[in-house]
Amino acid sequence: MRAHVIGMGEVGRRLAGALDRSGVEVKPVTRGEGWDTLAAGDGPVLVCVREETLPELLPRLSGIHRHRLVFVQNGWVRPLLAALPESSRGLIWFTSKGEFFQVLRPSPFTGPLAQSLARCLSQGGIPCVALAASDFAAADVEKMGFNCVVGLPLAVRGLNLREYLESWREEARAVFQEAVTVLARAVGIEPDPAWWASFEASAAPLHWVRVSTAKALEWRNGAVVREARRLGMSAPINEKLLAAVDFTL
Ligand SMILES: NC(=O)c1ccc[n+]([C@@H]2O[C@H](COP(=O)([O-])OP(=O)(O)OC[C@H]3O[C@@H](n4cnc5c(N)ncnc54)[C@H](OP(=O)(O)O)[C@@H]3O)[C@@H](O)[C@H]2O)c1
Repeated sequence: MRAHVIGMGEVGRRLAGALDRSGVEVKPVTRGEGWDTLAAGDGPVLVCVREETLPELLPRLSGIHRHRLVFVQNGWVRPLLAALPESSRGLIWFTSKGEFFQVLRPSPFTGPLAQSLARCLSQGGIPCVALAASDFAAADVEKMGFNCVVGLPLAVRGLNLREYLESWREEARAVFQEAVTVLARAVGIEPDPAWWASFEASAAPLHWVRVSTAKALEWRNGAVVREARRLGMSAPINEKLLAAVDFTL
């Protein structure tokens, strides 16, 4: 198999490394290079740019067969990818920052390339699983609970994750529950009450994490508020935290 990886940042280089170790030929694609072989090829295209970059990148991917595309962004990118139902998606459950690399859970994938990618990435040292679309939707909602806590609240309170979970435990839990309640409704599932305990276990290795400026809010806490409004629900805690950084939808 030959795979192209667009965006050789933290996630892109880690996925590329694992694919390479499993025997897949990897072609990096940067802003300026690799697009010609990508267009001529027929293997998977792992889209590893940040979610903020997706809107501007999607038009550039329009000539590529949708079955080849695999999106691995954090955040509520479902509405953005709704027009690409034939593509695959992954949820990254490792943390990579410079030398630091920690697998938090197996990373789930769904879509036509999920099985083969999960097998290759697992062989290459990044545990991954393939899920049916409905199970992936639940995993997506659960991951948003994580994204909404490990980000904006840390920036607002000026604390690392350990300090925040100790000092603002009720707020953290409320942010999480509000996010998963709204987004579960958006995809027509019930949130699992066990998700909070799983979050705490998965977040334990990341207690040192600090967030000076929360990024991609439109795709994280902002998406919770937007979906809540669309569904006639409320999301007051996420709304309050967004207001604290003057973020408006
Ligand atoms: N890092 C983690 O531990 C982690 C964990 C879970 C999920 N995620 C999610 O994974 C996604 C990627 O995060 P990341 O940490 O890997 O971000 P990152 O380190 O900033 O990497 C993004 C990469 O995309 C490249 N890029 C941007 N625009 C491009 C374009 N038009 N064409 C080609 N390449 C382009 C950037 O290149 P330039 O240098 O040229 O800008 C950069 O190399 C995000 O949604 C993030 O939330 C990350």
